[in-house]
Formats: sequence, C-alpha cells, structure tokens
Amino acid sequence: MQTFVPGIEPLGSHHVRAAFSCGNDTLDRYLKEQASQEERRNFARVFVLVGGKPQAIAGYYSISSTGFAREDLPGEIAKKLPRYDVAPAALIGRLAVDTGYQGQGWGGYLLIDAIKRIVNAGGNVAAYAVVVDAIDDGAVSFYRKYGFISFPSMPSRLFLPVASARPLFAK
Ligand SMILES: CC(C)(COP(=O)(O)OP(=O)(O)OC[C@H]1O[C@@H](n2cnc3c(N)ncnc32)[C@H](O)[C@@H]1OP(=O)(O)O)[C@@H](O)C(=O)NCCC(=O)NCCS
Repeated sequence: MQTFVPGIEPLGSHHVRAAFSCGNDTLDRYLKEQASQEERRNFARVFVLVGGKPQAIAGYYSISSTGFAREDLPGEIAKKLPRYDVAPAALIGRLAVDTGYQGQGWGGYLLIDAIKRIVNAGGNVAAYAVVVDAIDDGAVSFYRKYGFISFPSMPSRLFLPVASARPLFAK
C-alpha cells in the first residue's frame, strides 16, 4: 500500500484534476474547470491536499476576500461591532475531499489549514470572520463541529469570528 504523506500546497498546472471526485458534481467541476481561472483573475486562492500518488489531489479549498451585512449577524453580536454596514471577512468558498479519503479527518485538516492562513493574513488585511457556504445539510453539520454559526436569515451560510478561531489550532 502506498504511504500517504500529507502536504497542502497552492494549486498548480502539474496537479492532476481529472480523477478528483468528492460526490458533489459542482465541487468536482469547480476544481476541473473554474479554479485556475479564478486564480488567474485574483478571485480565489486554491490550495490542494496531496501526498499519495504524485500530483493527485486528495482534497482542496478556496479562499477569497468577502464582506457581509453587519445586520445579518445575530443581534447580540452585531451590537458590539463597529457601525459599518459591511463587515470584512474571508470566504472559504469551496472545500472538498475525494471520496477515497473521506471520513479520515482530511476535511477537518483542510478546514483548519484554511483558517490558519486567514488568521495569518490578518496581520496585513483584517477580517472579522471566516465565512463558509455549505453545499448541503451534511456540510452544515461538518462546519458546526468547528464552531461555525449559521447566519440567522441564511442557515447554509455560516461564520466563525476570527477571534474565536485560535482554539481550533490546538486540536
Ligand atoms: C464534507 C467533507 C469536506 C468532510 O470531509 P471528511 O474528510 O470526510 O471529514 P472528516 O473526516 O475530516 O470529519 C471531520 C468531522 O466532521 C464530521 N463530518 C464529516 N462529514 C460530515 C457530514 N456530512 N455530516 C456530519 N458530520 C460530518 C465527521 O464525523 C468528523 O467529526 P468527528 O471529529 O466528531 O469525528 C467531505 O465529506 C466532502 O468533500 N463532501 C462532499 C463535498 C462537501 O460536502 N463539501 C462541504 C463544503 S461545501
């Protein structure tokens, strides 16, 4: 059996996308057809989990800058924040693990890595929260395990204040 030595690196032209399959067509197609374009246009940074077959992708995520209406936050959180209409945030737009690697902790590994990058980038560009769009109810449960909270008016969009993300790194 081949040993899997995990590493997360920026998506490059040498990575083989064709075989990637996570059980969700939209997320498979994103990696194969959109990810590189979005990289080139500075709409997203895409990182891939590798370590098995050379150049094969076991999982990936994308990160972009975003913002959300402060009034979309739960009232008790919103009232403590500066009174701008839009709160700065970082978006984990896509996150997926190939079916051959699911259920072994790699989804959590990718999520923590993405959050670490966002926290580190925060030394230069502030983000109040990490935002994720969950593709289905299973994904909502996955993100809630890591402390993400649904926006009251959009349950499939969740946020995690960057200030409360640090304890995740201890996991
Ligand atoms: C959702 C997904 C990223 C999870 O990746 P994974 O590697 O299978 O998940 P992990 O093994 O890291 O699981 C981490 C935790 O989340 C839980 N979890 C994972 N998938 C879950 C689901 N669909 N529903 C509920 N909980 C889930 C696990 O039970 C685990 O909890 P534990 O630490 O208490 O045991 C992966 O299944 C996937 O790519 N699915 C298809 C695409 C998708 O739904 N992406 C979500 C972002 S839109």
